[in-house]
Amino acid sequence: MKVAVYPGSFDPVTCGHLDVIKRASKVFDKLIVGVLKNSDKECFFSPGMRVDMINMLDLPNNVEVIAFDRLLVDFMKDNGAEILVKGLRAVSDYEYECQMAWINKKLMAECDTFFVPTSEEYAYLSSSIVKEIARYNGNLNGLVPEELHEIIKTKMEG
Ligand code: PNS
Repeated sequence: MKVAVYPGSFDPVTCGHLDVIKRASKVFDKLIVGVLKNSDKECFFSPGMRVDMINMLDLPNNVEVIAFDRLLVDFMKDNGAEILVKGLRAVSDYEYECQMAWINKKLMAECDTFFVPTSEEYAYLSSSIVKEIARYNGNLNGLVPEELHEIIKTKMEG
């Protein structure tokens, strides 16, 4: 069984993330969305909320969402995964993601990274941009799945 992990902070999950999840889930038997609990980045949403928000979406049946708080390769080993899925928006993502792919391979020889180019309409999208727009009560249509708009706005209002 080909198990792949799609890791990230998902603070919050965006339409771009969901697009990658849907496309990658067609290629692998099982896709685990790995939500990093304590990233270097200070996350706005709690780990529990970030997991819950992804689970609220209409996900393919072979997708599972799991929070983790250790090295990605250790999380992969525990879940029987040897494939990493990463979305690439632009050339600017490429250099950093190659470095990560090489490091992860160094740490776990069987680990291979598969890059998915984001769909064109999401090339500009990031969780940071979503938070900035939501903070000023902007329109989240097409940026974040509709099911999450109210939750994000409510959290922003503090
Ligand atoms: O959505 P993000 O914040 O860009 O995702 C980054 C993530 C979670 C993929 C990366 O920070 C990660 O893999 N963290 C776990 C720790 C680890 O294994 N780092 C790579 C080896 S130094």
